[in-house]
Amino acid sequence: MMFTVRLPYKKAILILSSIILSILLFVTCMNDKKTAEVVIRNQEGEQFAGSATCVQCHKDITSKHLQTAHYLTSRKTAAEYFKGSFESGKNSVPYTTDQRVAMEKRDADFYQVEYVHGEEITGRRMDIIIGSGAMGQSFLSWKNNQLSQLPVTWFAAAKQWSNSPGYPNTVIFNRPITSRCLECHTSYATVLSTPGAEPEKFDRHQIIYGVDCEKCHGPAAKHVAFQAENPSVTTAKHIINPARLSRQQNLDLCASCHGGRLEKTRPSFAFEPGDHLADFFKLDTAAPDPQKIDVHGNQYGLLRASKCFKNSQTLTCNICHNSHENERGKTAIFSQRCMSCHSPAHNNFCKMATKIGPSINTNCIDCHMPVKPSRAIAVYLPGQNFPAAALIRSHFISIYPEETTRVTEFIQRTK
Ligand code: HEC
Ligand code: HEC
Ligand code: HEC
Ligand code: HEC
Ligand code: HEC
Ligand code: HEC
Ligand code: HEC
Repeated sequence: MMFTVRLPYKKAILILSSIILSILLFVTCMNDKKTAEVVIRNQEGEQFAGSATCVQCHKDITSKHLQTAHYLTSRKTAAEYFKGSFESGKNSVPYTTDQRVAMEKRDADFYQVEYVHGEEITGRRMDIIIGSGAMGQSFLSWKNNQLSQLPVTWFAAAKQWSNSPGYPNTVIFNRPITSRCLECHTSYATVLSTPGAEPEKFDRHQIIYGVDCEKCHGPAAKHVAFQAENPSVTTAKHIINPARLSRQQNLDLCASCHGGRLEKTRPSFAFEPGDHLADFFKLDTAAPDPQKIDVHGNQYGLLRASKCFKNSQTLTCNICHNSHENERGKTAIFSQRCMSCHSPAHNNFCKMATKIGPSINTNCIDCHMPVKPSRAIAVYLPGQNFPAAALIRSHFISIYPEETTRVTEFIQRTK
């Protein structure tokens, strides 16, 4: 009993002292200009707390979140994050017989260097990595307050460095990075230039890397301060839980990045969880056509075209996806989520069930959500007529006869 009484008190002391420590650290940092801690506020003036603070009270969620593709989708460069090799012989992309770009480590930094006839022409530092690496990694470089994308990207499908997607086959070092690119791949970036002015300028000390907690829950400094000052309060204040939003608000949060190419009507980073997408982007109101939508980055468009979505009142991304965990490849878990709506008990189970047998329970998706080659994350390798493309799960849930034949044959062979 003593224990349960003392625990909250101890916890409060612990939290208070760690907050005092943070403040002390903060003050020390402010005195040392080099590592000055910055306070980041969004366009409404709401202050971010940073996911490092969430761990004190949401330990489980935070530690799992660090493994997700969301968290890992943008980072400052560090040796251990690169998927591609810097070893001589594996670190070079030929453009013509005389011209190549090499990936090189120089002192503590990493560069992309253009050579013509073996002579160095241009070299730019890789400052930011975009992409968890499940499909690929692209690299951004700072020059003053501007960011450009570097010519070479690493492609998982080909397991090699190659010319970046959408580039003509020439070496381009200065393709400007827009706030929209950062809006999908970071949580927040302070844009210094006036809306519409190009190329855009950013404050390099005010970027929250990764799709982090506060992208989906809103800026949380007030929540952190309130809960820390009131440790006996067990309900939350000043924070958004998507579970309490409407279905459309929930979908719009995910669709702000998973809704394909949307034309914005308000400045980037203005959209916040709980907002309606239509107030920030020109929406495509035409009935979605699964044949036309690229599987790259438009899970919302494809899902919306599916019968599961159209004929249910409740289906959102969150019914199948747990936003706090890396569940990539866990086919059996996803199939259980299908079966929360489709089961023999509900009388709407798969018509193939008896034919397939019990293994059906562990894999609905290879037949009904097959992987399709992305048109956007694809690369033509030298001497090949077909692009090596990232394979992406189609979110058009449907009946695919070809995949059914393939999967049925596979099940028969492995029985
Ligand atoms: C000092 C402790 C503390 C810190 C730090 C903290 N939280 Fe919380 N949070 C709580 C408590 C207490 C609750 C209410 C109980 C619960 O849902 O776990 C809560 C609830 C939540 C909820 C659910 C809200 C709801 O209405 O259901 C979210 C989302 C959340 N916190 C996000 C965050 C994020 C993001 C951070 C870091 C930026 C953070 N919290 C930092 C204490 C904290
Ligand atoms: C990609 C969006 C996304 C990110 C990133 C994210 N969350 Fe959540 N979070 C959600 C959604 C969606 C829910 C509601 C889940 C549901 O429907 O029950 C949620 C629910 C919660 C809750 C309520 C309790 C619970 O378990 O459902 C807490 C607390 C929370 N999140 C904390 C965090 C913290 C802390 C981080 C960062 C370490 C984080 N979240 C990152 C989307 C996100
Ligand atoms: C700020 C933009 C943004 C928001 C908001 C966002 N995502 Fe993402 N999401 C991404 C990006 C970018 C990736 C690709 C990450 C990578 O691999 O580099 C991604 C990847 C994913 C993946 C693949 C994970 C994996 O392991 O490969 C899932 C699933 C996903 N998102 C679901 C959601 C859901 C559900 C929501 C809404 C609750 C959501 N996302 C909100 C940007 C976002
Ligand atoms: C509208 C949101 C959006 C914009 C804008 C966007 N991306 Fe993405 N990106 C995504 C999503 C979502 C994924 C996950 C793959 C998918 O669903 O197609 C992704 C995947 C990627 C990947 C592969 C990550 C992995 O899984 O390993 C790279 C690299 C990438 N994007 C780079 C960029 C760069 C560089 C820009 C800007 C020039 C950019 N993206 C603009 C949403 C976006
Ligand atoms: C929220 C409930 C829900 C979830 C979760 C769900 N579905 Fe559905 N699904 C439906 C509804 C409702 C229909 C339409 C049934 C009807 O009206 O005949 C449907 C229809 C289908 C159809 C028929 C499609 C067609 O074009 O004829 C297939 C196949 C299907 N679902 C497979 C799946 C798979 C596989 C999953 C998991 C990845 C899944 N569903 C998850 C509710 C759901
Ligand atoms: C009916 C279930 C279901 C729903 C609803 C759903 N997904 Fe998925 N999603 C899946 C499955 C299954 C996978 C494949 C997971 C794997 O194999 O790792 C997947 C994969 C993904 C991926 C990774 C794509 C890839 O191939 O790498 C992204 C991104 C994603 N989902 C985003 C979303 C978003 C955003 C929504 C809402 C608009 C959504 N999903 C709704 C079942 C669903
Ligand atoms: C080997 C491929 C395969 C697998 C695995 C599979 N299905 Fe199917 N499913 C089909 C085919 C083909 C049909 C259409 C059958 C017909 O109309 O005779 C179908 C039909 C359906 C339907 C529509 C039923 C109706 O009444 O029209 C639903 C719902 C469904 N499947 C859900 C699931 C779920 C849930 C799983 C996993 C538990 C699953 N399927 C696994 C191939 C598959």
